[in-house]
Amino acid sequence: RMSEILAKQEGRVLTLSFNRPEKMNALTRSMYGDLSKSLNDAAGDFGIRAVVLTAEGDHFTAGNDIMDFMNNPPTSDDSEVAKFLAAILNFPKPLLAAVKGNAVGVGTTMLLHCDVVIAAPSANFSMPFASLGLVPEAGSSFLFPQLVGYQRAARIFMTGESFDADAAIEMGLVAAKDSDPLAHAMKIAQHIAEQPPQAIINTKALLKAKNHDAVAAIMKAEFEIFAMALQSDEAMEAFMKFMSKKGK
Ligand code: COA
Repeated sequence: RMSEILAKQEGRVLTLSFNRPEKMNALTRSMYGDLSKSLNDAAGDFGIRAVVLTAEGDHFTAGNDIMDFMNNPPTSDDSEVAKFLAAILNFPKPLLAAVKGNAVGVGTTMLLHCDVVIAAPSANFSMPFASLGLVPEAGSSFLFPQLVGYQRAARIFMTGESFDADAAIEMGLVAAKDSDPLAHAMKIAQHIAEQPPQAIINTKALLKAKNHDAVAAIMKAEFEIFAMALQSDEAMEAFMKFMSKKGK
């Protein structure tokens, strides 16, 4: 199959790009599998000093593929999505992201694990888990209120409302806005890649230390509730509604 995750190395920076633009880069099991493998390989590769997550087309990602949610629900923590989330939680090197257009669900929650995120003016972030009969994942039930405060997190999770690049900058979810977010992120990544690598790895470990074990525990709890929610009538109804809207 044509690869739906494009990997490209420039100097000591690896770019991983979601490449399923015809489905708004909705992430499938096999895409999560490819991402995990690339991240785990990059972690152990002395030639790679930083990784940039990005996407082909006009949108970052529409989140988890809804067909996959229905047909191959991730029910255990050795699912591909769980392995991907563990890979970003534990990735020891700088992880950057360049976001444009829609960043839905895991498209937003994965950013909570990145070290630097650059967004285009078109960026639109949302975490409509509850609207789909689901619950927050990727440690977001802990990391997002920690970042933005309880009430703003509760409002965003419970309404499913989206927010733009300026709001994301104000929250601290995004570092900067740029009409060419990939070029901007690459510039920062190349700069970091010239720094002493062990000092960078140690700096990241220190920055993430306070949260790491708590996030790992929260992810496990989220998974259990998420797996049950995926089998619920509420979720089935929401997925059916999405599917029927497609037909028009
Ligand atoms: N899973 C599977 N396919 C998806 C998808 C998803 N999460 N999101 C978008 N797509 C597909 C659409 O089915 C459509 O494919 P088609 O042309 O073969 O029908 C294509 O991507 C373009 O999406 P479309 O819905 O036509 O774009 P839009 O601009 O009208 O709406 C969204 C954009 C993001 C509002 C809408 O696609 C959406 O709600 N997607 C689901 C997002 C979601 O709930 N993700 C899970 C979060 S946990």
